[in-house]
Amino acid sequence: MNKLTVSDLDVAGKKVLVRVDFNVPLNESKEITDDTRIRAALPTIKHLADNGAKVILMSHLGRPKGKVVEDLRLDPVAKRLADLLGLEVLKADDCIGSDAKEAVEKMETGQVLILENTRFNPEEEKNDPQFSKELAGLADYYVNDAFGAAHRAHASTAGVTEYLTSACGLLMEKEISIMGKALSNPERPFVAIIGGAKVSDKISVIENLLGKVDTLIIGGGMANTFLKAKDYQLGKSLVEADKVELAMSLINKAETQGVKLMLPTDLVVAKEFKADSEHKNVEATQVPEEWMALDIGVETAQAYANAVSQAKTVVWNGPMGVFEMDVFAKGTESVAKALAESKATSIVGGGDSVAAVEKMGVAEQISHISTGGGASLEFLEGKVLPGVDALTDKE
Ligand code: 3PG
Repeated sequence: MNKLTVSDLDVAGKKVLVRVDFNVPLNESKEITDDTRIRAALPTIKHLADNGAKVILMSHLGRPKGKVVEDLRLDPVAKRLADLLGLEVLKADDCIGSDAKEAVEKMETGQVLILENTRFNPEEEKNDPQFSKELAGLADYYVNDAFGAAHRAHASTAGVTEYLTSACGLLMEKEISIMGKALSNPERPFVAIIGGAKVSDKISVIENLLGKVDTLIIGGGMANTFLKAKDYQLGKSLVEADKVELAMSLINKAETQGVKLMLPTDLVVAKEFKADSEHKNVEATQVPEEWMALDIGVETAQAYANAVSQAKTVVWNGPMGVFEMDVFAKGTESVAKALAESKATSIVGGGDSVAAVEKMGVAEQISHISTGGGASLEFLEGKVLPGVDALTDKE
């Protein structure tokens, strides 16, 4: 990567403003239910603290839309971070107000301070120059380690770089280099597995990947639209009628580009969209009129697993069925298991597929689990992420 990284900065005694993505799920009691994103930022925070920096963290949490929302304060995050770091974590009640400024003023080297939710300020999402300048005014350097928010051109992810030397953090560097290598210089065979409910959400990803992969595997509700393009009758299954033509053009494009496109040959169909609905495994050409496809079938799951086992690089984004319901989770589970067993560089992105590998207890066997949802999708689409683009170039 041609951007400055945190290891390039001499941070001893310096104030370093670090954007992290601590947008973590909270339950009704405001307890963090998954702290993966906090853990993922620890290497950068430790690196800075160990090298004598004054570490000023900032993050958004949820979508408070420019207002203070008590339930979205970062106090639970600060507490969990302190537990994980084994260090005191100071917390300010604003971002650029007197509380933040005074807290920064009092900081000693090696200390960690977290500012309040950046999105309590309406200027954040507007990428307001004055707000960006005031954030920058708190520090000597800026580091962006928030890969999950790198697709947002906000004040704390992009605007602030106008006023400070800006480097990428260790998590950001890892995400970009692993996924970047997979896309630009993969070990082959390179297999991508794309799932999820709708083709419309993944068109750009599929188009970008068709130019790069050897095999493209399609599952989830979106596969129905591809099967419809092949003239299959799909009963009451979700089909995006206005995307059937597009699906056909993607099938043709795969053929022209010599990419093996794998679609379900059998499906698990149900009478209703319910966990306890009557269900059965049928050929993809034989979906009964009143039934709907809710998972890939047994034969398909096996074929997908075989393709994964022969791959040297695998990228997976999106579930193979309605995996929230156990009876329709088997296809997704089988892909997760195949990825865990494969010796390939395996990369998983997107909330649902990440949840699936975690639910299966195989996360440790995956080479890289991206902390980005929307960001990893945009990366796979081949888009330039504003949070990365804005960082200072290496000389
Ligand atoms: C995410 O959870 O994907 C990131 O934190 C970005 O959040 P956002 O979609 O609210 O910008």
